[in-house]
Formats: sequence, C-alpha cells, structure tokens
Amino acid sequence: MSITGIRGFNDILPEECAVWRRIEDEAVRVFTAFGFSEIRLPVVEKTELFLRSIGETTDIVEKQMYTFSDRHGESLALRPEGTAPLVRAYIEKRLYAASPATRLFYMGPMFRYERPQKGRYRQFHQIGAEVLGTESPMADAEALKMLETLFVSLGISGVEIEINSLGCPRCRPAYKEELKGFLADKTERLCDNCKGRIGKNPLRALDCKTPGCLTATHGAPAVSDFLCDACGGHFKGLRSALDMLGVAAKVNPRMVRGLDYYTRTTFEVTSGAGTLGAQNAIAAGGRYDGLVEELGGPATPCFGFAIGMERLALLVDRNRVEKRPLVLFLAMGDGAGEKGVEVAARLRDAGLRVVADYAEGSLKSRMKRADRMGAGYVIILGEDEIREGVLTVKDMTTGAQEKIAQDKIPALIKGRSQGAQA
Ligand code: HAM
Repeated sequence: MSITGIRGFNDILPEECAVWRRIEDEAVRVFTAFGFSEIRLPVVEKTELFLRSIGETTDIVEKQMYTFSDRHGESLALRPEGTAPLVRAYIEKRLYAASPATRLFYMGPMFRYERPQKGRYRQFHQIGAEVLGTESPMADAEALKMLETLFVSLGISGVEIEINSLGCPRCRPAYKEELKGFLADKTERLCDNCKGRIGKNPLRALDCKTPGCLTATHGAPAVSDFLCDACGGHFKGLRSALDMLGVAAKVNPRMVRGLDYYTRTTFEVTSGAGTLGAQNAIAAGGRYDGLVEELGGPATPCFGFAIGMERLALLVDRNRVEKRPLVLFLAMGDGAGEKGVEVAARLRDAGLRVVADYAEGSLKSRMKRADRMGAGYVIILGEDEIREGVLTVKDMTTGAQEKIAQDKIPALIKGRSQGAQA
C-alpha cells in the first residue's frame, strides 16, 4: 500500500506555488515600503511559550496544539501562530535595543489540530507583521492601511474590515464581571466548552458559534460600553486615523478574538466574495500591549496581524499571476543536442523561460509532449536550421511557425506574450 500524506497537511503544487510566490513577493514589496524587515523563526518552540501567551483557556491551547516530548522529556510544540515566537525572539535577542519601534514581518507554516475543511487546515501558512514599541493608534491604522495596500496590489476587492476594542487590564475586569452576571442564568444553554470557561474567560462565549452560545449571548453587554477613558480615547484615535487614511472599517462590538493576549484594538478582515465559504476570515490581529512584559521583557505596547495564505490565495485573480510562457527547446539530429543546450542558455540569459528537451523520439511525439507541458512556444534546432543559421519558432497557441535568427527570438516572444496579456 502506498504511503499517503497526513489529513489537513497539504502539498502546494506548482500552479498554486506561482500564486503563493506572487503574494509573497507583493507582501515583501509592500511591507518593506512601510519600513518592515523580515524575520525567520523556528517552527518548534517550548510549549510553555504558547500556554503563557495565547492563554490556557483558549481553543488553540486546550485542543489544537501539536505538542510532544523530545528525547530529554522537554515539552515542545509546533507553533500554532507567529506572534508569541516573535515576541520570544524580540526579548531574547534584545531587538528592542535597536530602535524605539521595531517593525517585523514573517511568513511560514503554522500548525493547529482543527477539523479540516475548505480554508481550514492542520498545517496552514501565515504572513504576519508586528509593530513593537508604540502605543499610538496611528500604528494600528497604518498597519491596517498596509494590509489594504497589499490586497489592492493583489487585485482583491470586496473585503470587509471589522474593528473593536477589548479594553485593558484596568477596564476589562469590570466588563468580564458584567458579562458573567449576564450569562449566570443562561449557563445551561452554553456549550460544555464555554460552560467550563465561564469563570475565567467569559468572553470566549461571545466568539462561540454553537447555537446555544449564540442565543445565550444574544443581547449581551458590549465591551465598548465599559472602556476606560484611555481605551476609549485610543479607539477614537484609531477610528479617526483610519478615516484620514481612507480605510473603511466597521465597528463590531461583539468581536472578541480566540487568543488571550489582546488588549484594546482587535480586528478581522473577511471576504464577502463567497469563494471562501464558512472560513472567510482572511486576516486578523490586534494590539497586545501586555505580552512582551508578560513574557519577561520590558513593557512594550505592540500591534500586529496575520494573513491566512491559503485563504488569500483563493481570492487572487489567477490571470494576474505573472507568468512568462514556457519555451521548449527541441534539438533534433546528431550533434544538435549539445548546440541546443548552449542556445537554450543564451535565450535564458536574454530573459526567456526555457527548458531544453534532450529526449529521443520523433518530432511528432516530442511536440505532443510539449503540448502536455503547456509550452507556449517550441523552438526547433535541426540539421536544416544549423545549416541555415536560424531557428524554427512555433507559437503553440496559434500554430504559426517561422524560421528566424536566434538573436531576434527573445524580442519576438516577449512582444507576443505582452500583447496576449494586455
Ligand atoms: P488568528 O486569527 O488565529 O490570529 O489567525 C490569523 C489568520 O490565519 C486567520 O484569519 C486565518 O486567515 C488564518 N488561519 C488560522 N487558522 C487557520 C487554519 N486552521 N487553516 C487556515 N488558515 C487559518 C493569529 O494567529 C495571530 N497571531 C494574529 C496576530 C498577529 N495578532 C497580532 N499579531
């Protein structure tokens, strides 16, 4: 029996990789323009890091972590997200010493043991960005602007941004108590999970999608009514900065997030396009002003977000993925093979995407293979061509074929493919 891959762990096949590459390139371009630098972090961390940051009463920590003991019995975990590892590195490598605000971005796989479905996987990929060292709501607004700029540059429209403020350790406890009181006579309707958490983490019930929790939390008090003056002022500052930057965002007072480290601003970006089905959150994030200190670093207010790569890729217009046509170079006859490899190398130097085919077989069977490979052009070098000092170029879309001097080929192919893309 052949060995299969693991449920929820995907192979990203070449055609999809072209889309991913375009997203990654665009993200690097946009994020760099906003002053962010890349950081690459390990995929495995000490389990404790996630317990202390994401929170022990969250779905991720309670049910979704890939945790294992190494040979020395140390408990390690595949990272379920990138913020906690980044903060760990920020403290450990003293990245705060460099400048007052540190702007970092990262890309890579994350792991959560969730029930796989379209847009939800056990290994999935995020592109994340974090600003560490500023409390200003301008940082939140600018990061959201950066996200919007990326979407626009990828040709994605119709996304909706929802924002909320969850308050801070000064004002949230009073809200928690109020919510607990509101839910006190409705606990029977809550799912077992939320029932168990209500003492420590009643906000989770607001985020729960089970029908019982949805009805129990209907009409629940809104956190926005409990913000202290500082948090209220911060949220107001965010909204006016977003207005100024022309970023449309809707306030959703019910939005809480599945991770405990958030303070003040939280947000979620969803796609209304229908392509994504139930898993329509493309990106999410917020402020985590207490996390760096919680993990042993200096008090450092932060804001960040992560984009779900698989979901974003589903929204990218495939026609906008830049693709140079594949040119298959066929050398026919004795001695042509070697010459062919050399000519193919020259054409690559001139900017074409060329595969040299040195397989045996008739011209007909090799042309069929070129077709299966999706070649846009086939260049033939046979004895006639060598003698005449030209090459035969066949346009696989139109079937037109012509003999032409080697140095004219790059301009011909580039010109035609630009014409076809326009
Ligand atoms: P999150 O909401 O858990 O936040 O994940 C962010 C995004 O990752 C989601 O909106 C979704 O697009 C994608 N995602 C999450 N789980 C899956 C999954 N199982 N399969 C496919 N995609 C998924 C965070 O991870 C925070 N670290 C974001 C953040 C950064 N907050 C501050 N800084």
